[in-house]
Amino acid sequence: LIEELKGTEGGRLAVSVASTVHYFAIRLLADFCQRYPKVKVSFKVTNRKGLLQQLDDNEADIVLMGQPPEDQDLTAEAFMDNPLVIIAPTRHPLAGQKSIPLAELNRETFLMREQGSGTRNAVERFLSEKGVQISASMEMNTNGAIKQGVEEGLGLGIVSVHTVERELEDGRVVVLDAESFPIMRQWYIVHRAGKRLSAVAREFEQFVRSEAGRFVRSDIIKTALGGAQSSASS
Ligand code: PGA
Repeated sequence: LIEELKGTEGGRLAVSVASTVHYFAIRLLADFCQRYPKVKVSFKVTNRKGLLQQLDDNEADIVLMGQPPEDQDLTAEAFMDNPLVIIAPTRHPLAGQKSIPLAELNRETFLMREQGSGTRNAVERFLSEKGVQISASMEMNTNGAIKQGVEEGLGLGIVSVHTVERELEDGRVVVLDAESFPIMRQWYIVHRAGKRLSAVAREFEQFVRSEAGRFVRSDIIKTALGGAQSSASS
């Protein structure tokens, strides 16, 4: 163990994360780096397609992302829930309405992530399973642009709740209470199958498995998702 920790002390760590993960992943990384200040970290942020490419090219030790495809030779383990929610500007007419029927959503414009985004895949799969047509949409390739677009009234967004903790806390956007939402996904910690992970990479993996939950704002998420129930019971 001492040998292993020595390895951890000064090792290198290449972590790549989905654009949706980087909000809590940076908090997590800050904590990890405080414990292991000598570790040299490379931290890359991209979408699902980019992450799969990096895994294929053996560029990343550890990847944090949505569920990876089964036909790529990867070791993946789910470590946390990832609810996708509809966000709207605070004064939107649907804000505060209960159990909004999905059919009502086709009157809205949606700000959609780009092709190659895991969020986009999940939203498209969900809409087609539910038979919901979205008539108007605009494509934006960052969560930041979508959040700002929603705030400015360009349309609604469907994003991981972990990307909007701050905006929810500041009351800049609200989560709509729509039928069948949130779309429940999970975050996965992934590496190439058979890759020999360094001591520091294994330590990081263990840290994510056991501590990731501390770096999301559960209080804000619970209120946003639970709406009426959580305020009624508290
Ligand atoms: P993305 O992230 O939408 O930025 O691709 C989520 C995922 O990997 O599923």
